[in-house]
Amino acid sequence: MTSTILITGASSGYGRATAQHFLDRGWNVVAAMRRPDPGLFTGALERLRTVRLDVTDEASIADARDAALAAFGGVDVLVNNAGIGLLSAFEATPQAALREIFETNTFGVMNVCRALIPHMRKQGRGGIVNVTSSTGMAPMPLVAVYAASKWAIEGFSESLAYEMERVGVRVRIVEPGFGPSTSFGANSAHRLEGLTPPPYDAFARAYFERMRDYPTNYTSEADVAEAVWRAATEAGNRLRYAAGADAELVADLRWGNSEADFLARVRALFVPA
Ligand SMILES: NC(=O)c1ccc[n+]([C@@H]2O[C@H](COP(=O)([O-])OP(=O)(O)OC[C@H]3O[C@@H](n4cnc5c(N)ncnc54)[C@H](OP(=O)(O)O)[C@@H]3O)[C@@H](O)[C@H]2O)c1
Repeated sequence: MTSTILITGASSGYGRATAQHFLDRGWNVVAAMRRPDPGLFTGALERLRTVRLDVTDEASIADARDAALAAFGGVDVLVNNAGIGLLSAFEATPQAALREIFETNTFGVMNVCRALIPHMRKQGRGGIVNVTSSTGMAPMPLVAVYAASKWAIEGFSESLAYEMERVGVRVRIVEPGFGPSTSFGANSAHRLEGLTPPPYDAFARAYFERMRDYPTNYTSEADVAEAVWRAATEAGNRLRYAAGADAELVADLRWGNSEADFLARVRALFVPA
């Protein structure tokens, strides 16, 4: 039987590439986005549905789920990919920006899980793949709010994994590194103005300089699509999948060292004095 994936934020970047990856590998794909556009994809379009879904709008989530079930009879894997970034000094981050990030990156993921879990539980099988970030395990400076929104989903997913395995549903986390090829930076940039004020200027500039010289390649859309594929299809109990060489570097530092060594290595590599 053909498996079905529903992926949020499939209009661009990692989400679009992941949707195309699963379509190319013979899955039914429900590509969920705020402004549906089937023209984004190529290939076996009879196995594709583009549906409207805003993760902050529960009615749109229910409609998207119902459309997926009507089209393909079930959803085997849910990928929570939709997300927005924020680069800011915390003290300069308005409450409205903080809430916008959490509404999308944190409560949005929970909204979509809540809508799909009853179906997967009754089905007795399925997978949930939550796309967080390398900052969800190894936060760099000036992303405190973004890291908090993703870190919340790390804890949510780890707990949910135990809860769901009893009913045949696997929960996994994909942690992408920085993807300069996606529109993430540009989409985050309009939130940046005034968010690194003068007392942070020199620090922010020195930090961005270091990030330009990252010791590995950055993450590509193909890296994330492949990591989601593995997270969706591999057997076993693995929880976290770092995606991209830069994410793998910090994952190795994080999980292969004591906390003191990890923090010292991150400071030495990335954080200006
Ligand atoms: N690129 C990076 O550096 C990076 C690094 C680590 C993790 N990530 C994570 O990877 C995921 C994908 O990011 P990307 O790099 O592919 O960025 P992107 O190209 O900006 O794509 C983000 C997607 O999320 C969608 N989205 C935003 N708010 C939404 C909402 N309220 N409801 C539904 N969809 C919404 C966007 O839809 P619209 O087209 O409608 O705006 C877009 O499809 C995000 O969770 C992000 O946090 C990215």
